[in-house]
Amino acid sequence: MAQTSEQLFAQARGRLAGGVSHESRFADPFPKYISHAKGSRKWEVDGGEYIDYAMGSASLLLGHAHRDVVAALSEQAARGSFFADCHPLEVEWAGLIQGLIPSAERVRFVGSGTEATMLAIRIARAFSGRDKILRFEGHYHGWHEFVDLGMKAPYDEASSLGILPGTLAATVVVPPDAARVAEALAADSEIGTIICEVSGANYGSVPLPFGLLEALRQLADEHDAVLIFDEVITGFRWSPGGLQARDNIIPDLTSMAKIVTGGMPGGAVGGQEKFMALLDPAHEFRGRKPAVTHKGTFNGNPLVAAAGVAALQAIKTGEPNRLADAAAARLRDGLRSIIERHQVAGAVYGEASTFHIYFGDGIVDGSVAQLGAAAIRGVPKQTVMALRNGLRQRGVDLMSHMSGVTSMAHNDADIDQTLDAFEDTLRGMIAQGLVGNA
Ligand SMILES: Cc1ncc(COP(=O)(O)O)c(C=O)c1O
Repeated sequence: MAQTSEQLFAQARGRLAGGVSHESRFADPFPKYISHAKGSRKWEVDGGEYIDYAMGSASLLLGHAHRDVVAALSEQAARGSFFADCHPLEVEWAGLIQGLIPSAERVRFVGSGTEATMLAIRIARAFSGRDKILRFEGHYHGWHEFVDLGMKAPYDEASSLGILPGTLAATVVVPPDAARVAEALAADSEIGTIICEVSGANYGSVPLPFGLLEALRQLADEHDAVLIFDEVITGFRWSPGGLQARDNIIPDLTSMAKIVTGGMPGGAVGGQEKFMALLDPAHEFRGRKPAVTHKGTFNGNPLVAAAGVAALQAIKTGEPNRLADAAAARLRDGLRSIIERHQVAGAVYGEASTFHIYFGDGIVDGSVAQLGAAAIRGVPKQTVMALRNGLRQRGVDLMSHMSGVTSMAHNDADIDQTLDAFEDTLRGMIAQGLVGNA
């Protein structure tokens, strides 16, 4: 008989550090173990079925096991999974990215989203000749040293042991506020890089103030700083060309991962030619060729490239975004009406194919804009867990906290079933006094 999640975790505890491969997958008393997934759904080893709003940590805009991606992977696997040589698919893949992401005049493939921001920051430091980076409170750019400080509160302390003090000293953390950015840049001429999660923290659970990204573009230009948009989540999701194509705000460098690889491991940095030239072994910059060293055994791996090409060819048509966005809009509307019907204090919001739920006071015109990060993040843990676990017991899996993403595979029946699960869960939370009255 197949093992249960509980049995697997008991074994995993003795084999994997912490029992998991990513600390966020840890759960007490045990995490769920998934055996397979298709479209909008995934199945637990012990038979539980979930409508999935995590979708491979937001990497599967086309849904699980999409026909074209599966075919591309199978075909490439049979032709060889890795050559450690250049190959035609990486050229095709980079061409698709160039065609979609406005800032990507040149592309370099990397091993993950973390590597994408690490490389983008290295290029930015090399180009500007200045050590310090400016970043925003609570924005996530991966787990490497350069972006540790500021990832989570308290924002003036490293989130981990083992971080070099020099890296902390090279990081300036500010709230997402244009005036604070202007002040920081004026006060410290060593800041040569600005990096921003362009959705706002946690794929938009804390939305950015209106106009911030335009202000960053202007301030970066005024101070000769290199502007990096972290589009690991928003790339190919906010629109086929990411946030930058949708809003026509063009950064110097862009970090990408998740959707760009068709949900396979990997990522990419795209950027304007003058910055990306620093990676060119034939180009001299400040006496070096290449100016910025970058390696990585599996960069642009053919298997990953095959999945990336298949995904981006679909995304280029606009159809996956249209369907995923429509599913999320229907879900957000439904969740909002349920909250209103039960007169619960809270809000439902989110852009493109994302949704976020907030329980608490301070909502003005249905918007969380007046609340600020501390309030949005301050929803009591008990409330967050009651929602997450209540939905999970009813066959609905969120991505994080009280948020999730849809894919083109989420259909009306999925949304209706999710809304029933939500209403049922909410009734229980009201009965337990875990949410307040509007
Ligand atoms: C905005 C953002 N940047 C960077 C990363 C890091 O990507 P990875 O987990 O592939 O290293 C993530 C991961 O969720 C992310 O959301």
